[in-house]
Amino acid sequence: MTLVLGIESSCDETAAALVTGERTILAQAIASQEAEHAPYGGVVPEIAARAHAERLAPLIETVLAEANVSLSDCDAIAATAGPGLIGGVIVGLVTAKALAMASDKPLLAINHLEGHALSPRLADPELAFPYALLLVSGGHCQILRVEGVGEYQRIATTIDDALGEAFDKSAKILGLGYPGGPALEKLAMEGDPRAVPLPRPLLGREEPHFSFAGLKSAVLRAHQAKTYSDADIAASFQQAALDCILDRMRRALDAMDPVTALAVAGGVAANQMIRGGLGGLASDFALRFTAPPLPLCTDNAAMIAWAGAERLAAGFPADPLDLKARPRWPL
Ligand code: KG4
Ligand code: ZN
Repeated sequence: MTLVLGIESSCDETAAALVTGERTILAQAIASQEAEHAPYGGVVPEIAARAHAERLAPLIETVLAEANVSLSDCDAIAATAGPGLIGGVIVGLVTAKALAMASDKPLLAINHLEGHALSPRLADPELAFPYALLLVSGGHCQILRVEGVGEYQRIATTIDDALGEAFDKSAKILGLGYPGGPALEKLAMEGDPRAVPLPRPLLGREEPHFSFAGLKSAVLRAHQAKTYSDADIAASFQQAALDCILDRMRRALDAMDPVTALAVAGGVAANQMIRGGLGGLASDFALRFTAPPLPLCTDNAAMIAWAGAERLAAGFPADPLDLKARPRWPL
């Protein structure tokens, strides 16, 4: 049985997890830095890096103790090596290098986006390559054709903001604090999704790219007009975002080579309306649909360990111990 220790520290969650090649999450621990960053309305890189440095080692000890295993039982140490906030990524990667060196185990440097991209396969053993993936997080908004481990064809991306960024910025306009996505989703439940006329950027365009900056600006104008309730603005924003996503995804599926399934991943995949809408779209295309459970959507270490297990199973070599962290690293 393959066993991989995974480490995630690219943004504001410090996390460690032990995952087997058979998809069992033996243990996982996560420390959120929400409270530290909330007063600033967003993630402060310096605070994040320090918090990762303080918390990571105890979290790793916790998961090893919980699973009752030692480092020598692991087949590899996998850590996010980018993209992300460089200070945090370095903390996780250096820790993984030290553990790999001390235990003489292979180091697997994982692209955080690959962690998200393969997370639906951790949740769903039946999910086979190639599948279409909507990857929606705080920093990314992409449609990928996931063709195999390490084989990602990027079909579309955002020309300005990521979807999670649009949720967070709109939530901030509505005074919902940070992180805004979950709070905006909650408020939207009390509002009318048709109350506020908001734009649907790029709707109907041939290329399936995304754009959310105009939508966010329209939310600001609607808020400043003081004629709509915050709940109506939230609900209308969410509806407009969903309409864009479904239109763009439909366009991408129409143009894409055949796939076995549609999957969604990343923090925004935790949104129930988006999950529901994509599920409906998948059935229109007679595709199976996979949306990982919520804790596997937002940043976590189980997806990093799983990406490591997938790389091991696919025969990828270990990474060198002098490998550099990559703040920018496209899939
Ligand atoms: O994947 P993730 O945890 O971190 C990145 O890699 O960026 O994604 C975080 C993003 C944030 O923008 C957050 O507001 C958004 O995911 N998010 C949500 C929900 N939960 C998290 N957006 C909408 N609805 C949610 N329920
Ligand atoms: Zn992420």
